Amino acid sequence: MKNMLLEKIIKEFDVPVKRMRQIKKAVGSEMDAGLAGRKSSLAMFQAYCDAASGREKGFYPALDLGGTNFRVMMVRLQGGKKPKVLAEAKYRLTGEQISGTGDVLFNAIAGYLGKFMKENKFNSEYGLGYTFSFPVKLLGIDEGILMKWTKDFSATGVVGKKIVELQRHALTSQGLNNVKIVALANDTVGTLQTQAVEDPNCIMGVILGTGFNICVRVSSRRIKKGVGDYSGKCMIINMEAGGFAKALPFTGYDRQLDRESGNKGHQFAEKMISGKYLPQLARLLIVDLVKKEGLFGGRVPPVFLNKDTFQAWYMDVFETGTEKEITKLGRKVFGKVLTTEERIVLALVCHAVARRSARIAASIITGALTRVERRSARKVTVAIDGSLFEKYPGYSRMLNEAIRELEGSAGKSISTKLTKDGSGIGAAVIAAVVSANR
Ligand code: GLC
Repeated sequence: MKNMLLEKIIKEFDVPVKRMRQIKKAVGSEMDAGLAGRKSSLAMFQAYCDAASGREKGFYPALDLGGTNFRVMMVRLQGGKKPKVLAEAKYRLTGEQISGTGDVLFNAIAGYLGKFMKENKFNSEYGLGYTFSFPVKLLGIDEGILMKWTKDFSATGVVGKKIVELQRHALTSQGLNNVKIVALANDTVGTLQTQAVEDPNCIMGVILGTGFNICVRVSSRRIKKGVGDYSGKCMIINMEAGGFAKALPFTGYDRQLDRESGNKGHQFAEKMISGKYLPQLARLLIVDLVKKEGLFGGRVPPVFLNKDTFQAWYMDVFETGTEKEITKLGRKVFGKVLTTEERIVLALVCHAVARRSARIAASIITGALTRVERRSARKVTVAIDGSLFEKYPGYSRMLNEAIRELEGSAGKSISTKLTKDGSGIGAAVIAAVVSANR
């Protein structure tokens, strides 16, 4: 193999500081446009709540829908201390449930919630928080319209409809009358809230997992498209940052990935950053190296024939695994012992793709920080959840390094904090915030 193409790829996937600064700047102007209701690749949906005060107390159930794994929880909030999960259940939604009709989906969710409440004998009356991690335009804290599906969901009759109304209908039809949905939120907002309960400096929530998105706390005065009858001085905004599309370093591979995706022309930043797409990008790069430079003897290994078979955790192993782990996975994935060259190329490609993701994410995060309303001048906490940030080797380090490159010494006041289970616990926190304000 000649390696010229490999060198070109590595160079193309590097994001120099200059480019990061361009992205950061473009994020600020797209945020302003989105907040004014002008055309923007950032939807900037109002979340109709401010960050938690830390005084929230009580028992709140939470529903968490954001991928094929769906969760139900009962959370106890204890005023400033870490929320306690009293009971939790995970269910895997079937293909029919995520891509059949909306009725099938919402009835399945109602069924699981009913089962959970019954099995755990939660018989009182409860205000429930619902995390629905898709682009939802909220009409108020407890209702919103699904604008489009992302992440492979496609249940019919839901886009353009009121989510809570659909879910409430399913709950009633199954006789579940002791739970009332009082808050609807995005997973980024849940993540921010989960951290805010313990840490007043938290003003941003980020998801770096299967999907990518950010929410920010901004001054209500910045929201030129209106806040309805919301009276708080600040509001959290779900940016739908995965849709960001300005100043990004598009390559031919990104265009190919987009063409072959189920949501062509959408979610450009998400397609460069999130865990759902990184292995697909790695695959496109490798296939090109096979075809043009004769990698893998010039024959595309079967694992790369289909766009979804090469998985994110394979990338972890091929990039930083031990000799033993790589040999074992090589046998499983390629049916052979990898040559030294193949191993090196796999590692370099996976690293290039993951590093680019971290640098673009850092640029968008620092761009978003230019518009936030801090609670303290000296410190900000960015709450982050998601498998990419939590588990991908070196990812959080690369992200923090890029943030420092962009912010210089000011970067010292920014800390990124892994906030687990935010999408579940956070929904309960929001339900409590709403109940406290009533
Ligand atoms: C997708 C969804 C967004 C969600 C993110 C992370 O980008 O559109 O609402 O926050 O995934 O789950």
